[in-house]
Amino acid sequence: MKEMIRRFVEEFGVAGHEEPIRKVIADEIAGCTDDMYTDTLGNLIATRGPEDADATLMFSAHMDEIGLIVTHIDEDGFLRFSNIGGIQPHRMLDERVVFASGRIGTVGSERVDKIQNLKMEKLFIDIGCTSRDEARRYVEVGDAASFHRPLVDMEDRLLSKAMDDRIGCAVLAQTLKELDNPRNRIAAVFSVQEEVGLRGARTAAYQVRPDLGIALDVTGSGDTPKARRLDVSLGGGAAIKIMDRSLIAHPGVKQLLLDLAEGNDIKHQREVLEFGGTDAGAIHLSRSGIPSGCISIPTRYLHGPSEMVDYGDVRACVDLSRALCNADLSGISR
Ligand code: CO
Ligand code: ZN
Repeated sequence: MKEMIRRFVEEFGVAGHEEPIRKVIADEIAGCTDDMYTDTLGNLIATRGPEDADATLMFSAHMDEIGLIVTHIDEDGFLRFSNIGGIQPHRMLDERVVFASGRIGTVGSERVDKIQNLKMEKLFIDIGCTSRDEARRYVEVGDAASFHRPLVDMEDRLLSKAMDDRIGCAVLAQTLKELDNPRNRIAAVFSVQEEVGLRGARTAAYQVRPDLGIALDVTGSGDTPKARRLDVSLGGGAAIKIMDRSLIAHPGVKQLLLDLAEGNDIKHQREVLEFGGTDAGAIHLSRSGIPSGCISIPTRYLHGPSEMVDYGDVRACVDLSRALCNADLSGISR
């Protein structure tokens, strides 16, 4: 699974620019779906399992990652930019960024007295050009860039610029690979534009019309020095979402996930997140309401260039997702 994770996390796919990562994921799961298509917004939707199943279970893992977008190229060839998704300016400083074309740049800053004054508008990207005309041979206004960092395999732990949410995509792809004859009909959605407001999942859920919706996404952790209090830690297993800012998990879904984890000896923990949201926030408000929940992969240093996960937690999330594909969903009513 680690080689697939590497392929997923190292690929380019800033929100609204998911084509490269979509192609990698489509190639990866081609052999283990009944049907696969890309919808209007760019979501990759793969289905699997009996047409006449009692229930349709939708998983959503977002393909997009946070990034930058060029707003202006100055006479000396420096690029000004804005953020796509939530990035704090100090985490950009001196980072290398890469454009879809492969051109790499580094982020510099105007002189500031205090770190608090380091605002996005003080930063620029230097792509090694000395004039606007030269820079425009490689980059245009409106081009997007992501952090440029390879995967680091620390055996138990993995480090990458885009665990959020390629690790969820990898959990979903691996779940499809490990499924035999699932009891439920599975709609595996690799969604777009989560980082700018859960946009892809909204139209995907309307289209798929599931009986139950599950987001596979990262969550924070509270296990680093003087961290914000949060009862989630790396190595603690799959995190079962109780609540975040986008969703209060459906009680039946939450209980089913807890029961499945208990019954199958899958290491797990409960998650109450005081910030952020996931695709489940959009899914559960689709049509007349969809019972929804979220299986989260605990992650340190979110929305930075070095997001860290625990490989055991990743495996636990695959096991829990697979158990759900074969679970009796009849007790959960719309
Ligand atoms: Co995110
Ligand atoms: Zn995410």
